[in-house]
Amino acid sequence: MPTQYPDILFQQKINKEIKIEPKDWMPEAYRKTNIRQISQHAHSEIVGMLPEGNWISRAPTLKRKAILIAKVQDEAGHGLYLYSAAETLGITRDEMIDDLHCGKAKYSSIFNYPSLTWADMGAIGWLVDGAAILNQVALCRTSYGPYARALVRICKEESFHQRQGFETLLVLSQGTVDQKAMCQDAINRWWWPSLMMFGPKDSESTNNDMGIKWKIKRKTNDELRQNFVDMAAEQVKVLGMSLPDPALQWNEANKKYDFGELNWDEFWKVVKGNGPCNKQRLAARVKAHEDGAWVREAAVAYQRKRKAAVRSSFGEAKEAV
Ligand SMILES: [Fe+2]
Ligand SMILES: [Fe+2]
Repeated sequence: MPTQYPDILFQQKINKEIKIEPKDWMPEAYRKTNIRQISQHAHSEIVGMLPEGNWISRAPTLKRKAILIAKVQDEAGHGLYLYSAAETLGITRDEMIDDLHCGKAKYSSIFNYPSLTWADMGAIGWLVDGAAILNQVALCRTSYGPYARALVRICKEESFHQRQGFETLLVLSQGTVDQKAMCQDAINRWWWPSLMMFGPKDSESTNNDMGIKWKIKRKTNDELRQNFVDMAAEQVKVLGMSLPDPALQWNEANKKYDFGELNWDEFWKVVKGNGPCNKQRLAARVKAHEDGAWVREAAVAYQRKRKAAVRSSFGEAKEAV
């Protein structure tokens, strides 16, 4: 194949399931799509720490507190792997952080909803991490190598998150009348925003076509949303709770659940920055970044000192010879 057709060679590699690596030739749009998707994913992990971090100091027991701290810490780790994966495409960490802080880069809208009760820790783990897993398991086979490899570890940790969330709800669902009501209330509030995590309908998504052709995405938004509904509709029975959708019904002919229409006005409102907590979340991120400036400065100063020490000991060694 003549090398003047790198785009054809590129597509052949994708078709043969050969991973694309940082130094390989790639179409500019492929690079940009991956930068957008991976950095957006990284931002979601970091902003996602906020609604749960909010409950660390109010966890009901020491055991619950330890589990929640571990979970929130995992999300920070996910952010770090993903920022590193995005950096291999030629964008710097500072550029990505700036894009987030100025509102240019998006993160998952789900984190613009408030976490009002302890049961929200369960609902977030079960539904939000559950929806994230479906997206991410499909992405473990994504065509860009560093992203696919980062996702393997992330998925293992996400499945722990989902189970801990479900177990938190299970305990509440077997508790007092108030605890049961709190459990149902959290499910009611998180259900529809979780379905929105899969993005717009396929018919309205602008990123689906190329994403599928380049195997960046492996399943469409609608397919993943359906998988999620089918999973949650069964699991909620174990909790003895219900999902807040009167249209939810098993369809024997299609072998899947039918479900009601999402509130797309609300979806677009939150995406465009006008959800219940958009401003609060971004302000918390900017503050954390500013408050952490001294840590970054100290790390740079320490590294400079170490390098100077190595240089001077090298100089002394040379003089001795
Ligand atoms: Fe995560
Ligand atoms: Fe998670």
